[in-house]
Amino acid sequence: MNATPKGLDAEYAELAASQEAPIDATAMATETTLLNPRFYTTDFDEMDRIDVSSVRVQWDELLAEMRADPNKGHFKKNDEWDADWEGMDPKLRREFIDFLVSSCTAEFSGCVLYKEMKRRGNNPDICELFNFMARDEARHAGFINDALREAGVAVNLGFLTKAKKYTYFRPKFIYYATYLSEKIGYARYITIFRHLEANPDQRFHPIFKWFREWCNDEFRHGEAFALLMRTDPKLTTGFANKLWIRFFLTAVYSTMFVRDHARPEFHQALGVDIEWYDQEVFRKTSTIARQVFPMEIDIDHKRWLPNLRRMRDAFGQMDAGKRQGGLAGWVKGKLGAVKAGAAFVALYTIPVIKREPPKNVRLEPVY
Ligand SMILES: [Fe+2]
Ligand SMILES: [Fe+2]
Repeated sequence: MNATPKGLDAEYAELAASQEAPIDATAMATETTLLNPRFYTTDFDEMDRIDVSSVRVQWDELLAEMRADPNKGHFKKNDEWDADWEGMDPKLRREFIDFLVSSCTAEFSGCVLYKEMKRRGNNPDICELFNFMARDEARHAGFINDALREAGVAVNLGFLTKAKKYTYFRPKFIYYATYLSEKIGYARYITIFRHLEANPDQRFHPIFKWFREWCNDEFRHGEAFALLMRTDPKLTTGFANKLWIRFFLTAVYSTMFVRDHARPEFHQALGVDIEWYDQEVFRKTSTIARQVFPMEIDIDHKRWLPNLRRMRDAFGQMDAGKRQGGLAGWVKGKLGAVKAGAAFVALYTIPVIKREPPKNVRLEPVY
């Protein structure tokens, strides 16, 4: 329990007690839509029964890395922290806050799920892993919230744990979704970091300087889920499971595409073309996911980008309908939903590229 200087519980309590937040950021984070980061719950007893002995050597290696806690002192501001919220263009400021709130919610959602698994479990392997992961996510969420506080907004995380709706996923869906979100998190953070390393003049806020070490935490979390999936080969084989993996890949990628396009000013300030960035993140994530998934989505297929764009436009239409209100707005929204559904089917049915996962599941972050 003494994974951090303060201990996870103290850190968590501090996060959860942050009551001073104005309601708007918290409301943004609480809102449950198809696209917002969600909170998850699962069958913790089933997860507690996992036996990691078939991957023991790799498991012990990974856990030793987490125990050593390489990022223990990383999430602290230092003299490289030169935030200038006052000088930020108001439109950029709004989108950047939206980006930070959504990132903070996603980090905190991981923290809540992992901490709950640790709390409910009896299996020492599982409890130790989830304790380390909750520790990391608490730091991540806390660090983002600190950055938000300087802008006069912060997410009331204590309120969020109570007010946010929890989505139940069976453990195997938690593995697919969480594995993907950890690896995609790594790919997103490292792609921005490398881009800004080459173009430091476009780094409009210091938080991006923290992304490299940060994303190594996410990489390790993803490795842990890869190992968990390896303990039961049935999870990534069989007709139905393969369809589910394909579903999660399509859903996670297309959600990211739609969300990122809702922040044009943010990406412009970074000097990043959104389609380029998203494709780059998909490519890295798919390459990494070969460690465990038996297939990958063909993101160079001629139907891929056009249908992602169609999906983005359909969500735009659903949004416009909601804002318009009344019967006409309702009809507009419903038509948008039908279009989004059709685009999803078109994406989901793109033939996948079959892969044979390697014997050794472990990878190192190389980007
Ligand atoms: Fe994280
Ligand atoms: Fe993570």
